[in-house]
Amino acid sequence: MRDGSRTEHAQAEDAAFMSELLAGRVDERGYADYLLRLRTVYATMEAVVRENTDDPAVAAVFDPGLERLPAIDADLDHWLPGGPRTVDSPAAAAYRDRLTAAATSGGLLAAHHYTRYLGDLSGGQAIGRILDRGFGLAGRGLAFYDFPAVGRPKAYKDGYRARLDALGLSSRAIARVVDEVRVAFRLNQALFTELAASLPA
Ligand code: HEM
Repeated sequence: MRDGSRTEHAQAEDAAFMSELLAGRVDERGYADYLLRLRTVYATMEAVVRENTDDPAVAAVFDPGLERLPAIDADLDHWLPGGPRTVDSPAAAAYRDRLTAAATSGGLLAAHHYTRYLGDLSGGQAIGRILDRGFGLAGRGLAFYDFPAVGRPKAYKDGYRARLDALGLSSRAIARVVDEVRVAFRLNQALFTELAASLPA
């Protein structure tokens, strides 16, 4: 999954919205717009994953301790107190529809699960620290990056990979999963493109 998405990952790292965010040039409203889109993604993903835990591929990765919806809601209370919790976003709607369609196959759901949560436990941890330092937040509004139930990310990611490997999927099934990881990256890229378009010039 990692090898198959290297190009897409490099593109995500280069996304203008990400560099603006990490350079401190996105304001509270811009960050809330990002969180609102992530809220759509995680609310859908966490619901379909919970509905499909009897599938072996979903069971291999399912962990309620990863779920981000409560953290996103806590962060939105900080960034957008009393504001809306939904957003009119074609990119988030497309991501939601793809997640719903992926519910027909545990492997496809695992692809989406991997793309978001392993990202959150990898580069996401560095992003959280940069935002904390850059904005002097002392952790406020950054629950999204905090995984109290996970422990050391490195050990967790090793265990996660081992559980996926132990599924013994055929090379054909693996190819489908990796293709879906690429799709998931493109859906994330589309979120960034949409967000960059609404940043002030
Ligand atoms: C500025 C943006 C980003 C930076 C700086 C970044 C950085 C990183 C780094 C350094 C790793 C490797 C960590 C390790 O070796 O354990 C990583 C892994 C990963 N990232 Fe990102 N990332 C970014 C954006 C994204 C996005 C947007 C996604 C997808 C939504 C994503 C998904 C992943 C995944 C799935 C992994 C795990 C790869 C694996 O070990 O199998 N990243 N990221």
